[in-house]
Amino acid sequence: MLAENHKLKPLFDFDALPPKQTVGNGFTGMDVLSVAQFDRDRLDYIFARAREMREMVLRIGGTDLLRGHVLACLFYEPSTRTSSSFIAAMERLGGGVIPITQGVQFSSVSKGETLADTVRTLEQYADIIVLRHPEIGSSQLAADYASVPVINAGDGPGEHPTQALLDLFTIREELGRLDGLKVAMIGDLRYGRTVQSLTKLLLQYDVSLRFVSPEILRLPLNTMNQVIDAGVNVRETHDVADVIQNADVLYVTRVQKERFSDLAQYEEVKNYYEITPELMAQAKEKMIVLHPLPRVGEIHYAVDSDPRAAYFRQVKNGMYIRMALLAAVLGRA
Ligand code: NCD
Repeated sequence: MLAENHKLKPLFDFDALPPKQTVGNGFTGMDVLSVAQFDRDRLDYIFARAREMREMVLRIGGTDLLRGHVLACLFYEPSTRTSSSFIAAMERLGGGVIPITQGVQFSSVSKGETLADTVRTLEQYADIIVLRHPEIGSSQLAADYASVPVINAGDGPGEHPTQALLDLFTIREELGRLDGLKVAMIGDLRYGRTVQSLTKLLLQYDVSLRFVSPEILRLPLNTMNQVIDAGVNVRETHDVADVIQNADVLYVTRVQKERFSDLAQYEEVKNYYEITPELMAQAKEKMIVLHPLPRVGEIHYAVDSDPRAAYFRQVKNGMYIRMALLAAVLGRA
C-alpha cells in the first residue's frame, strides 16, 4: 500500500539532464567489420585518439566519457586479450559490459539460438556488440540483423580488424613511421586472420613485405593478389634466415590448430619456426618482434628480455586502440 499522502514525484529532473552528445567524426554508429573501412585519415584519427587514451590512463586511470553506455561482448571462440581489452577499455571509459566470453555454452546459444536472434536480443540491452565467431562473414551477418554497431573481433580465418589496428599502431609508435619499413610475416599465413587484416592495412603504406611459411600455410591467393595489385615489393620464402637481417618488423604467428581438418597435417608444421636469441643476433639493432599472441612455442622465452621484443607492449596498445574505437563509434570521441 502506498502512503495516503504519497504523490508521484519525478525521479529525474529531466530538464537538467545533459543532451546526448555525439561528435561528427565519421565513425558514429559504424559497424567495424573489415580493415577495408580504414583509409589513412581514419587510421590517423584513431591513432591520435589512442594516444590521448594512453595519456589519460597513465595520468588518472579512467574517465566517464562512456558512462551510460553498455557493451555486449559475445565470444563464440576462446579469447584472453581481445575480450579482456574490450572490457577494460569500456570500464576505463566509465561504461558497462555484458561479458558472454567465458562460455557461450552457458548462454542460450547452447539451446540452439541463432546468431541473428542472440544479436537482436543483446541489442535490447547494449549500445554496441563485439563479436568473435568461427565463421567467415559472421560479423557481417550480425551487423545485418543488429541496429546497434557491431565490431568484428575475429570471424574464423577471415578478418580481425581491431587487432590489425593495434598492430599497425604498435609499429608506428615503436619505430616512429610506417612508410619505408620492411615487414616480415612468419608462421600460419593461411589461417591467421590477423595476418590477412594487417597485410591489407599495410598496403596503404610504402612498405616491403616478406611472407615466411611452410608450403601448406602460404598466404591465400586472394590476399596475395591484393598485395600484387597494390604494387608493393613482396617475396615469399620458407626460411626465417632469409629475412631476419633486413626486417624492421618480424610479425610472428601461431599455427592455427583449430582450423585444420587433418590434425596430422598440423603435427607436421606445428614446430616449424622458433625465434631464438641466436636468430635475434642477426637482426637489426633497431627492429621489433610482434606477435598477436597466444604463442605456443614460436618465440623462445629467452627473447622476451630483448628490448626489441615488443609483444607485451603491443598487448597494452590493444586497450588504447579499443578505447579510441569504442568512443569514436559511440560518437563520443
Ligand atoms: C589472435 C586471434 O584470435 O586471431 N589472437 C588475438 O586476438 N590476439 C591470434 C591467434 O589466436 O593466434
